[in-house]
Amino acid sequence: MKHADPVNPEQKEKFGARDIAKSVFVFLANYVLLFAIIFLSMLLNSVNAENKDFIPFMRENVTSVIYLLFCIFILFVIIYFYFFFEDRPSLKTAKNIWLVFILLDVSIIVCYLFGFFFNVYSRPVAMLALLALLLLGRRAAIFLNVIFALMMFAIDHFSNFTVTGVNENAAVITPLLTFSAGMIGIFVGSKVKTRVCSFLTGFAVCVPILIMIACLEYGTGLELLYSLLYGLEAGVCSAVLFMALLPVFEVCFNCITDYRLRELTDHDAPLMRELKERAFGTFNHCIVVAHLAEACAIALNEDTALARAAAYYHDVGKLRQPEYFTENQSGYNPHNELSPELSVDIIRSHAKDGYELIRARRLPKILADVAIQHHGTMPIKYFYAKALKMTDGELNIEDFSYPGPKPQTKIAAIIMIADASEAISRSLPDRTPERVESAVREIIEERVDLDQFDECDITMRDLTAIKEAIVNCLTGVYHSRIRYPKLKLGRRAEEEEDKEKKSDA
Ligand SMILES: [Fe+2]
Ligand SMILES: [Fe+2]
Repeated sequence: MKHADPVNPEQKEKFGARDIAKSVFVFLANYVLLFAIIFLSMLLNSVNAENKDFIPFMRENVTSVIYLLFCIFILFVIIYFYFFFEDRPSLKTAKNIWLVFILLDVSIIVCYLFGFFFNVYSRPVAMLALLALLLLGRRAAIFLNVIFALMMFAIDHFSNFTVTGVNENAAVITPLLTFSAGMIGIFVGSKVKTRVCSFLTGFAVCVPILIMIACLEYGTGLELLYSLLYGLEAGVCSAVLFMALLPVFEVCFNCITDYRLRELTDHDAPLMRELKERAFGTFNHCIVVAHLAEACAIALNEDTALARAAAYYHDVGKLRQPEYFTENQSGYNPHNELSPELSVDIIRSHAKDGYELIRARRLPKILADVAIQHHGTMPIKYFYAKALKMTDGELNIEDFSYPGPKPQTKIAAIIMIADASEAISRSLPDRTPERVESAVREIIEERVDLDQFDECDITMRDLTAIKEAIVNCLTGVYHSRIRYPKLKLGRRAEEEEDKEKKSDA
């Protein structure tokens, strides 16, 4: 499933006249592009149906073309209204609008090329639904699948498209075939977690296609068999093309999907490998924070895969100077030779460095946002206290604080609390459930007092759920073990016995 970018502050702003004008302009640009593609599809369809050459065909069907122009325009208006009322933040970014229309453009081109070179039944009609499911989410995928089915119907209908077989007008079956194959793809694809299962989705998609072909071509003998084979090809090709095109869309539009997040949290992902090799302490810290963040995301019904990935990448900024962070030090602490002001500069820069590093590697922006927000505007108490000891005058605590921004999303707030909880749990002398609970409660209360959650929509109930999830996890990690008796077995036991006998002698 697609992982929606949590709403950022700029997206919370009002959708003004300027945004409407900008989004309408992008829609119109896409209308021109899509109509050019639909013209090409009509050409392929008319040649395929042996309707004559394209130019005489167009001359005879000027009215049909005008109707088609109008029909597609109506569908465009409906698409605009769908996003305006259901997912307005998407319209603020031209990239999102382009993604929707490039998906439609590519699907129409691919379907009509398959229809032209192979057979009308071999068109991979479920490809759009599968891609939209992963890139835009289930709701938008269902909507676009309906629009796509109607567009296919309009193209087939206005090309006076016919196929051989008992039924003379294949255009009648186009919307039903496209719609049902796409819907099966969406329902089955929503449950799929691996790429192998995605491929198997292609076979599920075949079911409605084969049933409809069997009904339509019943009684045509060998023709029916060929049509069924083409139907099988349609389902399998939908899944294969979906798997081939998904990484292209993920990279070009920087989309976050389950597959992308799983690849990013692989310990061999480039940035993770670097962290493991150059800052092993930070790498271990990120793994524990990821466990805590996942548990919190489950408790809050938030995106667990995203919470896990955000935790993995929240401290990558430490890669710039790993030796200045306690978890990567073994004895020698370079801060002993620095002024508290300089130490603070180095420590707090890791949030901004992380943001820049993630953006430079073209990784999802939400990971960069969490990296820069995970300390909010919290003071770095250790160096503030050190500086206070070294001066008689007053010190401005803001000079010893992170510059922010504060967490803007629930995921960023979860990472902030999980990060501090993991760090404090290491320093606890005893890790009884009561002691861990009190430490996590203090962390949350301190952040609430310092207004760290003012800019995200987290509630007190969410904070309580986060506290319980973290305490459960941490007490599970640091549970006490029974003391094993000192028993020596086998050859070591005999050696010990010999030693004892010799000493007795
Ligand atoms: Fe950090
Ligand atoms: Fe951290």
